[in-house]
This record gives sequence, C-alpha cells and structure tokens, in this order.
Amino acid sequence: MKQDNKEYMENNLSCYLNEQSLISPLVETSLPIAPKIRLGILASGNGSNFEYIFKSIQNKQLNAEISILIVNNPNCLAIKKAIKYKIPYVIINHRDCNSRLEHDTLVTKKLKELSVELVVMAGWMRIAGEEIINSFKNRLINIHPSLLPSFKGVDAIQQAIDKRVTITGCTVHYVQKEVDSGSIIIQAAVPIKEEDSKETLKKRIQNMEHLILPMAIAKVAKNIRTSLKDNK
Ligand code: GAR
Repeated sequence: MKQDNKEYMENNLSCYLNEQSLISPLVETSLPIAPKIRLGILASGNGSNFEYIFKSIQNKQLNAEISILIVNNPNCLAIKKAIKYKIPYVIINHRDCNSRLEHDTLVTKKLKELSVELVVMAGWMRIAGEEIINSFKNRLINIHPSLLPSFKGVDAIQQAIDKRVTITGCTVHYVQKEVDSGSIIIQAAVPIKEEDSKETLKKRIQNMEHLILPMAIAKVAKNIRTSLKDNK
C-alpha cells in the first residue's frame, strides 16, 4: 500500500480496519475534480447511500454536486432525505408507465435535461435499460451488496448467508446490459461472523458501501474529467 493511502486509512478508516474489512483499490475521495461533477442519483429505498454521497460533498471530501435525485417509488425514504437536505428530487413511478422502455426513457430524459454527467444507482431496484446505458456510457455506476461476480441479482446478502460463505461484501461497478456484470470499480470485503443475522451483516456491508461509493464516484469523475481534457 502506498504511504499516502496508508496514512489516509489510519486517519479516516481505522474503525473499519479494526473490524478487519478491506477496501480495494483504496481511492481518496478528495481527488482533484474541477469543475465539480454533476451527479444524478437513482434510488428506490431508504436512501442511506444517497445520504452518504451528500455528506461526502458537504464535508468537502468529494467535489461534486447532486443535480437530482430520481426515485421510482413514491413512498421511499430517500425522498425524506432529499427534502431534509434541500436536494431537488423527482418521482418517476414505473407503475405510471406502460413499459420498461417508457420508464427508462423518462429517467434518461430527465438526467439529460439537467446535464447530469455521472449517474449513480444507489439502491435502484430497477434493471437499467438500453436507453440509459447507451446514453451514459462509462458514466453509469451501481452499488451491489456482494463481492461480484458472486451473488448477482436480488437479495444478495441472503444468497451469501445461504451459501455459508465466510466473506462477502459490496461492489461498485459500471452498468452494462447483463445485470450486475459490468467492470468492477471498487470492492470492500466484509467477514460474515457466526453470530450474524441478516440485519447485522447488512449493517456492516452498508457501512462499507457508504465508504466505497463516494470513492468510486471520485475515481470515475476523475476519469471523466481526464478524458474530456484528452478529447480537447
Ligand atoms: C444497498 O445495500 C445496495 O447495495 C442495495 O440496496 C441497498 C440500498 O440501500 N442494492 C441492490 O441490492 C441492487 N441490486 P439504501 O437505499 O439505504 O442506500
């Protein structure tokens, strides 16, 4: 591990090291990203990842701004968080659409309208369609609660428990057509303890998600800024 990363871990992540979790690759969220990257966040549930992205921005650890939160579920808690932090949000309910394509198209249109540069699926319980994938090539990422390629799809934490693995974790990856299959950006390993329930394990996995998602955003944002420069 490079010395500066080691120091970063010691200063910021010691509590997680004590639990013997592991993040790879380790990325500093404070990578220089100028101007700040415009994010679109997609969420369907509690929105804890959304909240941690916001906190990383607020703490000046991540040079980004959240242009919009899009939710597909009008009752999800992520909306309450958007209201609390005064972040613009929109509900695009898939139940109001006639097809997956229609929903995907509406979501993509909204993101483009707001000139979003990087789209983050942060607990988005929808399969991304071709419209959004093609519109945001290398700029659409997802967080999944397993060490991919293990335990793709729904209820990944329960899948890991059922298979009696002793290490699981979470993964941030680029999104492609096949579910949970795009290139891996960052992973965190989390040991499964004998006494774990699904809830205690989920809590520890989510603690790691809250760390690696802002790191992954910083990494991809840096790539986006670098490739823009290269194209000039
Ligand atoms: C997260 O644990 C995320 O990994 C998972 O949903 C949770 C959302 O939590 N995503 C998936 O399972 C996608 N396949 P949050 O709403 O509190 O961020």
